[in-house]
Amino acid sequence: MTEPRALPPRRIGVTGTDTGIGKTVATCALAARARQRGVRVAAMKPVESGIEERPVSPTGLASDAERLQAACGNGDPMSLVRPYVLEEPLAPMVAAQRAGVVIDVDALDAARAELERDRDLLLVEGAGGLLVPITPTLSYADLFSRWQCDLLLVAGNRLGVLNHVLLTVRAAEAAGLSLAGIVLTSLGPHALSVAEATNHEALRQLLPTHTILRFPWVDRLDDFAALAMAAQAAGLDVLLP
Ligand SMILES: Nc1ncnc2c1ncn2[C@@H]1O[C@H](COP(=O)(O)OP(=O)(O)OP(=O)(O)O)[C@@H](O)[C@H]1O
Ligand SMILES: [Mg+2]
Repeated sequence: MTEPRALPPRRIGVTGTDTGIGKTVATCALAARARQRGVRVAAMKPVESGIEERPVSPTGLASDAERLQAACGNGDPMSLVRPYVLEEPLAPMVAAQRAGVVIDVDALDAARAELERDRDLLLVEGAGGLLVPITPTLSYADLFSRWQCDLLLVAGNRLGVLNHVLLTVRAAEAAGLSLAGIVLTSLGPHALSVAEATNHEALRQLLPTHTILRFPWVDRLDDFAALAMAAQAAGLDVLLP
């Protein structure tokens, strides 16, 4: 008798309105919450650039891939979590070209297939925003489409985010990506400005059919229980399989 073929996991591509606005924090929180719920989760940062520039976070982990790996808690090999690592803090296409590295999409496919084996959920963190180029002919929108990912848009809550969200939603639609949710993230523990206080309601008016969640500032990024609690409180459970 032949073995039944395993179903692919739910795949979520995590993109942002910009760089440095909380994609990794939100992805780690979702991974920690998934684990808490008994969901077998893996996370991937297919290309990580700017590795020399990243400040060491309170977790003691410098890179996104290390933070994602720790949040999933599986000890997945770094070669699968992050198949390509580039030194300069640039868009992957440019960092790769300057380093003489050729990014091979078949290698990315192979790492993804290996990493997601026996998992229920795969989280794929992009770099910067949705149209950031990985190669001249492959953007994150293309990669997420190729991998049949649903999209999670992490939007940094500040003045300008309405435009960045609307542009990204249009780009997602044009790429045929299904938008699973928009997470408006806090960018500091400070009191909210008028823009920050009104962005959530404005997005709800502008995008009434979309799921728009708010993710809080979390003091201890090395505390996965606190991250999971923040994910739950923000309503991120709707994204879990
Ligand atoms: N919700 C939050 N709570 C606490 N700190 C946060 C939060 N969001 C972002 N930060 C802080 O901002 C930094 C940048 O966030 P993060 O690394 O998640 O950004 P990113 O969008 O993944 O950036 P990149 O484009 O480089 O991948 C974090 O290291 C953390 O210090
Ligand atoms: Mg990141």
